[in-house]
Amino acid sequence: MSIHFDSTNLSAAMVGEKHGLTPQEVAAARPAALAALAGFHKRVDENAYGFPHLPFQTKLIREIKSYAKSVEGKYDTVCVVGIGGSALGAWALDCGLRGPHPVQQAFSKNNPRLVILDNVDPVFIQSALASMNPGKTIVVPIAKSGATAETVSAFLIVHEWLKAKLGGKKASARIVVVTSENKGELKAFAVKHELQTFHIPENVGGRFSVLSAVGLVPAALAGLDIAAVCKGAAAITKLSWSEDLEENVALKSALLHWLILTKKKKGIQVAFPYANRLWGAAFWFRQLWAESLGKAENRKQRVVNVGQTPIAALGATDQHSQVQLYREGPNDKVYSFWAVGKWADSGAIPKAKTGYESFDYLAGQSLAKLIDVERLATAASLTSANRPNCTFTLDKLDAWHLGAFLQMFEFQTAFVGELLNIDAFDQPGVELGKHYTFALMGRAGYDEYKAEYEAYEKKRAGAKL
Ligand code: PA5
Repeated sequence: MSIHFDSTNLSAAMVGEKHGLTPQEVAAARPAALAALAGFHKRVDENAYGFPHLPFQTKLIREIKSYAKSVEGKYDTVCVVGIGGSALGAWALDCGLRGPHPVQQAFSKNNPRLVILDNVDPVFIQSALASMNPGKTIVVPIAKSGATAETVSAFLIVHEWLKAKLGGKKASARIVVVTSENKGELKAFAVKHELQTFHIPENVGGRFSVLSAVGLVPAALAGLDIAAVCKGAAAITKLSWSEDLEENVALKSALLHWLILTKKKKGIQVAFPYANRLWGAAFWFRQLWAESLGKAENRKQRVVNVGQTPIAALGATDQHSQVQLYREGPNDKVYSFWAVGKWADSGAIPKAKTGYESFDYLAGQSLAKLIDVERLATAASLTSANRPNCTFTLDKLDAWHLGAFLQMFEFQTAFVGELLNIDAFDQPGVELGKHYTFALMGRAGYDEYKAEYEAYEKKRAGAKL
């Protein structure tokens, strides 16, 4: 059981010195990687960041499983109300383990539908509500801050919908809140309405919270094996503290991605899973990489404006949409293929011949082989155009490997943050837009932002193009 990292196509030997790394460049940067490892280890020991501890929280895992058992049979839909880091982890897990379209899952006791309300598009919310039965739905509002406008507004609508159909007491029995223990008014709301509540540790940020109650409560309600997810994550956590770059995939890939970004100026990373079930994880990764590493200032308050723009592409589908650009457009990207070693189903192609040459060479082969070959062919084709690329392979796509894979990316991101000397765990760039929204929606205490926004509108009025 393992996750493998093949970095050969990041090498200068494969894509040339302008775009790839020489063994000397990597060797020279090794001390920086070890310093990043030690630096991050120190911060975790000081309790600044908590995600590495999450897979080992056996008591929490037991409590979540016991809650899920207590409501077993009482629902056919799990409705998550959350956004960003409070939604994407649940989607990554459910998509990875049950299928790519959580909203379209069939109803059944053992396989409840997961509906994720992660936007305030009114038509989307209304159609989601129309598709659910309040007497058969468990609602999971998730917000670390307890105050995110999108989540609060959608939750107010869903809460009213539950109450109108079931009455206050029965509505409360269908809600499980995930929020901070000591801050935010979602917590106060939960206490007032006596709602079942799970807490998010203060030192675990949204995009690093998939293995906290944020991801595990919806996952357990959806019937996923959260203990196995955490076991895989625990195994990779142990390896992620190793100084041996050959066993520490997170550190090795962090080092190489940092070098490719800073020395070879690849400002874009394409996360390219060759498995529909990893599509949710690719979107989860997009947020993790963008919000963690896109920063104006480094830890010394120097303006650096760093980051690497993550793009999600799906193989083989996007070969017929994106690869033209990837191979022949600007050489400003690094490609990270995500492969599955052993498929749950081989997808046998019928053996019978049709007499058509362009059909018959496929007869008797399998889709598992074809999708693998498609990935190898794309990697070879990008490499021949000097486009640096690497491949992560999960031995198979199950709860253990998915937990390990997500945790590996969290470590990788934290290490790249250290290498860039930035704070990978804050998101100051998101705050201003939030403050303007609060001001424009009339929240008290945001007058200063209202004035700023009005000045911006005034400037716009005089600057028509
Ligand atoms: O990663 C993050 O910190 C953010 O994406 C948050 O998860 C997102 O803004 C939602 O925040 P909250 O959980 O407070 O609603």
